[in-house]
Amino acid sequence: MRTSLPMFMGLGLLALAPMQAQAGGADILKSQCSACHALSKPASVTIDDLWTRKAPDLWYAGDKFNKDWLVAWLQNPTRIRPAGYPYFKNVIKGPKHDEIDESKLKPHVHLAKADAEAVADALMAMKPDGVVQKGIYKGGSVNMRMGAMTFDKFRGCIACHKGADGKGGFSGAELTDAGKRLQPDYIASFIKDPQKIDPHIWMPTLAMNDRSIQMLTGYLIKLSGQEKK
Ligand code: HEC
Ligand code: HEC
Repeated sequence: MRTSLPMFMGLGLLALAPMQAQAGGADILKSQCSACHALSKPASVTIDDLWTRKAPDLWYAGDKFNKDWLVAWLQNPTRIRPAGYPYFKNVIKGPKHDEIDESKLKPHVHLAKADAEAVADALMAMKPDGVVQKGIYKGGSVNMRMGAMTFDKFRGCIACHKGADGKGGFSGAELTDAGKRLQPDYIASFIKDPQKIDPHIWMPTLAMNDRSIQMLTGYLIKLSGQEKK
């Protein structure tokens, strides 16, 4: 198709504004974040790769995080994993059990507001097929007592994740605000089959029925003070 020059330029200008914002976020990710975070799906993942990983993968960020949380956290990052990532590089043998070596934990880079927004936009656009099961979380009422019992006792989640009382393990992420940080379908998909989302990750696949998956997901969302959908 032949286009006259002025018309061509006009179209170019129209397209420029929104594209620039997106390129900004993607550029920051590439230049400031890719040294630690995987931004595209690795061809294959071995146990050795987990050993050398410096930070959680971000290539499925758009199906994992809540955007509001990202924008706020990138400006003011707080610790999500009590022993950093991966935890086994930051623990030392204590007299009774492993203890966190605080000296190994560095503060996370933080971004100015406009950059945090641009990066969050770029991250939210990263939604690869087949990682998270869309619509898996059905919502509905939650029995918080049963949820706590299941999390703390029946399923032993607190061996690795801190419970509501702040006690528990530190090899997994803090989940008491999971509903603010994570999308419900991601939480449910991860509980159902952690290995499908993150192969070889040190969270066991517990062969749980759907009722338990719904209950634990609802429990974590409500625990975070998030409205159930
Ligand atoms: C020096 C390595 C390093 C760099 C550079 C880095 N990060 Fe991180 N990032 C980490 C680590 C380690 C964590 C885990 C922190 C925690 O759990 O407390 C993390 C966590 C995160 C999380 C939360 C992930 C989750 O699964 O909970 C996001 C989002 C994130 N980083 C985004 C970024 C962005 C955007 C940049 C670039 C502006 C960046 N990071 C640069 C090491 C890094
Ligand atoms: C043996 C340790 C272990 C146990 C037991 C365990 N987890 Fe995990 N869990 C992990 C690890 C490790 C990760 C992912 C590592 C990371 O991103 O920091 C994880 C991630 C998660 C995530 C996703 C969090 C994120 O930031 O990506 C959820 C949700 C979760 N676990 C829920 C549970 C629930 C519910 C139970 C109990 C049924 C449980 N876990 C039991 C180790 C464990």
